[in-house]
Amino acid sequence: MPDRASEVRLQEEFNRWAEEGRGEGMEEHHLPIVEPTLALMDLQPADCVLDVGCGSGWLVRRLAASVPGGQVVGIDVSDEMIRRAQLACAGIPNVKFLHGTAEQIPALADSFTKVLSVESAYYWPDPERGIGEIFRVLRPSGSAWILINYYRDNPYCHQWGVLYSIPTHLLSAAEWQERFSAAGFRPVSHRRIPDRSPSPEVYTGRWFRDADEMRRFKAEGALLVTGTKPTRP
Ligand SMILES: C[S@@+](CC[C@H](N)C(=O)[O-])C[C@H]1O[C@@H](n2cnc3c(N)ncnc32)[C@H](O)[C@@H]1O
Repeated sequence: MPDRASEVRLQEEFNRWAEEGRGEGMEEHHLPIVEPTLALMDLQPADCVLDVGCGSGWLVRRLAASVPGGQVVGIDVSDEMIRRAQLACAGIPNVKFLHGTAEQIPALADSFTKVLSVESAYYWPDPERGIGEIFRVLRPSGSAWILINYYRDNPYCHQWGVLYSIPTHLLSAAEWQERFSAAGFRPVSHRRIPDRSPSPEVYTGRWFRDADEMRRFKAEGALLVTGTKPTRP
């Protein structure tokens, strides 16, 4: 269980992101890897879905449209992200946002048929506990989907480590899978989701050395780890 200081540090960092409008900006950046993931999730109209680390709520809004007979819940450690998500989704009946952490999900056991988390898990102070919590809140035969761009097997993201102002985990696909298995998921698998969006001719940001490195990073793709909660332990 993470200590209170780590939680406060995360909350303050992502409240800053929210105030700078970065929550809304992530839709454009993450959609090219989220769309193929949604296709794999095979959402059903009555699914109850949890988005862990939902940020400004753009994905919760999209998910809600795919599950008109179900419900979508977004949780985030940043109360400012949650406040903005609630405003942006006001009036959508099958959506709920809660302030909370992956390590202590504010939901009863067996509440969801699918749990998704996008670009959040490597920030969790205690990923093992977060994955265990996802297992707890999933119904038997429900599935978990964790999508991340920062992982050890993609050499073109390693330079990000020094750019983050909060602690992160640079784990390999095998290490993420081990954590899923240890939580009880069976079967567990992973795959790459290449980012096929167009890249600029010239890159001037701070995350890549140049446009070529950015293209290589996108071709390697994001890591999608998935697991099912068995119907019997
Ligand atoms: C890079 S943002 C991604 C947000 C959103 N999933 C998206 O794709 O736009 C990471 C999000 O994870 C949240 N987060 C980080 N650690 C968390 C934790 N332990 N529990 C819940 N949320 C967390 C942050 O507050 C932030 O909103």
